[in-house]
This record gives sequence, structure tokens and C-alpha cells, in this order.
Amino acid sequence: MSKVHSDTIRPIRFAKGQLQLLDQRRLPQETLWQTYDAAPAVAEAIRDMVVRGAPAIGITAAFGVALACQRAQGHDDWRARVTGDVETLRGARPTAVNLFWALDRMQAEVTASASAEAAVAATTAAAQRMLDADIAGNRNMGALGAELIEPGRGVLTHCNTGSLATGGYGTALGVIRAAWDASRIEEVFADETRPWLQGSRLTAWELVHDGIPVQVLCEGAAASLLRSGRIGWVIVGADRIAANGDTANKIGTYGLAVLARAHGVRFMVAAPVATIDFDMPNGDGIPIEQRGEDEVLALGGQRVAADGARGFNPAFDVTPADLIDAIVTESGVVEAPTMERLAVLREPAETGSLV
Ligand code: MRU
Repeated sequence: MSKVHSDTIRPIRFAKGQLQLLDQRRLPQETLWQTYDAAPAVAEAIRDMVVRGAPAIGITAAFGVALACQRAQGHDDWRARVTGDVETLRGARPTAVNLFWALDRMQAEVTASASAEAAVAATTAAAQRMLDADIAGNRNMGALGAELIEPGRGVLTHCNTGSLATGGYGTALGVIRAAWDASRIEEVFADETRPWLQGSRLTAWELVHDGIPVQVLCEGAAASLLRSGRIGWVIVGADRIAANGDTANKIGTYGLAVLARAHGVRFMVAAPVATIDFDMPNGDGIPIEQRGEDEVLALGGQRVAADGARGFNPAFDVTPADLIDAIVTESGVVEAPTMERLAVLREPAETGSLV
């Protein structure tokens, strides 16, 4: 009997010329929406993680450009104003390539527009299309990823890759939703994901909200869980996939990949084609965001580390391609990724298994 799942969370909405973001700093304690009408404030929201997750960052920035066009109306130098805002948005966070992918597309809409008014219409429509396409792509990705999962065991995921990290449905969490719905997984485990706790705060909230049981573990429990035989796949998202398949994702992902290989557990990366940076030959060149020490030294605003200790807080790490069993995108699956195999995704013709 197929399990019925719900897919109810949408973190980004645009209405009446305003952008609304579900504030992810406040979840799960509080469901609070923030409203934006200017691009610099949107850049700040991305930097401060009101919204986070690679696809969600890209879509948010796209709506940020629509807001920039709105505010530039009536000014002779409207193009220069919008371009300045696009640069501000580009500087919000460095690792997720979806931000730059989305801004390049929006800048092209601006360049092709004859007036600020035309640019408002073009960018608003393009951002909405990006949002809708993301959700549709995630559903496809979910179905493709679920097919790889042999029924009978559990899955482990890291960070938050769900509706909150995308336009909706999710990437890795979309695969988990689809596999759960098809009764292909027995249980779902989510790393708490120190230091920002995307796993225990966001993934757990989202799965409970949508009726999928979840067990949260601290990262230190992953090795023995993977040794136990209960897990068939580790399934994670990505912030940037280099052309050879090396994958930047939330700090701790690389360690999980090493553990998975050591215990014969398969390792899946689920991400849209927009997350693949074909101009980046391998993971060595991916810029890794360093975040504030306080995120590591404190919990819930309360310092827990000994006074005088310093914090080390890289937000992402890079998993080498040879530790990845499959990269699942909306356009197809690439097993044992290499540069040659991934290149097929540059011009996705059909959906399904590519290699
Ligand atoms: O710092 P964050 O929360 O933006 O990091 C998010 C991640 O690392 C996600 O795993 C990744 O963006 C994929 S989201 C579909």
C-alpha cells in the first residue's frame, strides 16, 4: 500500500510587488514571514540565512532583481541602478553557484528590456518561472532518485535540502519524500547538522509537518549507524558540483561520504543541473564560505565553549567525486560521476538515466 505524503511547505512567495520569505532563523519555534521590497535587504536576508539552501538562494535573488527593477522605475540611470543591486546580490554568499546562475539569467532579462517598466515585467515573470520550474524539476529528481533505492532499509540525510531549501519539495529530501511515498524506505535519519542545526531545526520540522517520521542524530552517531546495516543510502544535496563531480555541500558531508564508503553504504547527491558549475574543473577551486565563530561557540545565543576558545567555522566541505555513487538531477542520473559522464547534462534532451 502506498503511503500518502503531503507537500505543503513553500518558503518563497511574491505578491503585490513584494517578496515574502519564511524566516528560517526562527523555525521550528515560530512561523514568521519577512517582507522585502528592495534588493539590498534581500541580499542581507540571504547572508543572514532568513532563506538558505542553494536553489532557494538563487530563486530569492531572482526576485531580488525584480524588486531592483521596480525601485529603479522613473530614474534615467535605471540600468545602472539595477546592475548595482545585482552586484550586491552576487556578494551575499559565495559557495552556492545557483545564486550566480540565477543572477546571470536575470541580468540577461534586464539587458533585453527597453525600459524599467519592461524590465519589471520580464524579471518578475522570469523569477516566477524559475520558482515553478524548480518545484517541477524537484519532483522529477525525486522520482529518479527513488528508483535507485532498493526497498527494505533506511536513509540518512544531512543539512536541510527540502522545501525550505528550494522553491518546494526539495532535492535530497525530495528523493526521500518520493521514496517514502513509494514505500521504498523504512526509516529516515537526519543529522542535526552542527553548528546551525539545519537538520534538527528545519529537516525535522519539515518531515514532521508533512507526516514523514524522522529520527535526529548528532553527527558523531553517524559512523555506528552506518555500520549497523540499517542504512542503504546516504542522500545529500549540493551547493556546487564541479565539472568532474566533486561536490561542495554543508560541512560534514565529506566525512559522511568517507564513512559511507567504509561501511559499504551508497552515497547519493541530488541537485538540479543549475548546481553544476561546468566552468569549475574540480572541487579545489570552489570558494568555501567561512562564517562567524559564534555559530560554533554558542548554542541558541548562549555561549557554551570555554571563554578564550576560538571558533573554526567553514560552512561547506568538498566531497571528492570518487566517493559519490550517483548524482541525481531533474534531467537524469549520472552514476560514478566523472567529467565525461557529467558533461551529458549540459544539454539535457530527455529525462531518465543518462549514463
Ligand atoms: O548554509 P546553508 O544552509 O545554505 O547550506 C545548505 C546546504 O548545504 C544544502 O545541503 C544545499 O544547499 C542543498 S539545498 C537543496
